[in-house]
Amino acid sequence: MSQKILIDKVINKKAKIGVIGLGYVGLPLAVLFAQKGFKVFGIDIDKDRVKKAKTGQSYILDVAGRQLKEVTSKKGLQVTDNFSAVKKLDAIIICVPTPLKEKKEPDLSYIVSAVENIKRFMKKGQIIVLESTTYPGTTEEIILPLLESTGFKEGRDFYLAFSPERIDPANPRYKTENTPKVIGGISPKSTRMAKVLYSQVIRKVVSASSAKVAEMAKLLENTFRVVNIGLVNELMLICGHCIGIDPIYLSWKANGHGFKARFIELASYINSQMPHYVVERITRALNQHKKPLKGSKVLILGAAYKKDVKDLRESPAIEVISILQKAKAQVSYYDPYLPYLKIDSIDLKSVRFSAANFRDKDCAVILTAHSNVDYEFVLKHSSLIVDTRNAFKTIKGKKDKLIKL
Ligand SMILES: NC(=O)c1ccc[n+]([C@@H]2O[C@H](COP(=O)([O-])OP(=O)(O)OC[C@H]3O[C@@H](n4cnc5c(N)ncnc54)[C@H](O)[C@@H]3O)[C@@H](O)[C@H]2O)c1
Repeated sequence: MSQKILIDKVINKKAKIGVIGLGYVGLPLAVLFAQKGFKVFGIDIDKDRVKKAKTGQSYILDVAGRQLKEVTSKKGLQVTDNFSAVKKLDAIIICVPTPLKEKKEPDLSYIVSAVENIKRFMKKGQIIVLESTTYPGTTEEIILPLLESTGFKEGRDFYLAFSPERIDPANPRYKTENTPKVIGGISPKSTRMAKVLYSQVIRKVVSASSAKVAEMAKLLENTFRVVNIGLVNELMLICGHCIGIDPIYLSWKANGHGFKARFIELASYINSQMPHYVVERITRALNQHKKPLKGSKVLILGAAYKKDVKDLRESPAIEVISILQKAKAQVSYYDPYLPYLKIDSIDLKSVRFSAANFRDKDCAVILTAHSNVDYEFVLKHSSLIVDTRNAFKTIKGKKDKLIKL
């Protein structure tokens, strides 16, 4: 079946949607698809839940009984524990649990069991999406081989994508429909298909470059939250004794009270390592061009602490330039806001923004992306660029010329 047929079915709301696992995530999603006019089949192995959902008794806080009754009575949503319903479906969305095992290892048994059941009834032309939170690589390494063991080929016979669930239960403002959704397919065709599917019911759908990136996006978000919560907890403990303004001032002061601010110190340590990482990437980029760092002409673009300001204090550029100088690279810089710099008693003067000044360098490194710099010009006249700020947002990184962190 060509992709166009499936796209048309989805856009015309003729596609039949299956949601596997009707919990906090699956039930609101199934109801949403049904409310938007799709025929939805909810499949769950929990007989009690199936019975309740069938009769419109909601067991999930975010789904009102009235909403559930409305979609089940009109047969927009049909609930079953029988996987043979998969035969009728065009899209299958998996929302089963992903707990940890006793030894804190991922327990993928629910996903595997759901996929094994799908496999028994799958047909050509379906899209299968995993929403359960999991480690990067699950969709490609676990689900793809299971589904392809049927002889069907992803991107040709079926589509496979990951789309992390970002539901925030009991949030009165953000529900499934207005929470932006990230999607990433195994193949570009699957990404496109998943985008079309979710765009029918969710206001903002963002395509990631792969399933793995979409999986990582969710873990990034959750890790960010865990660290934030941990940080706030640590601050709360410190605030019992004192209030500070600057994180290091704070950890220093907390130390004086016998309190070790581990989150702040860890964050500061990780941040302090970033200039070394940037230099490593510059070294690797030059290496690709068969050039050693020693003696290479490196042009730093932007040295200020942040874009569009003329403040050098605490700028990571100081450390990057210092490391490069110690490694005997020939460092120069351009910053429209900072005409002179002195780093490790070496005086530097901002070079002119000219084609000759780019052409003559082995590598240009964007450290601060001031808005008044013509990056197209930089790209045109440089032989190698390391872009640490994503100044070239719309241009994909290329190994030979443009390296992004
Ligand atoms: N609850 C949240 O706030 C939240 C938020 C974001 C992401 N997630 C993730 O979404 C996933 C689902 O979480 P949840 O909170 O909806 O779980 P849940 O326990 O509320 O619901 C999961 C449902 O799946 C069913 N199920 C289990 N194995 C099955 C199988 N093989 N076939 C069919 N049905 C099966 C269960 O009976 C249950 O009804 C998890 O990966 C979770 O980490 C949850």
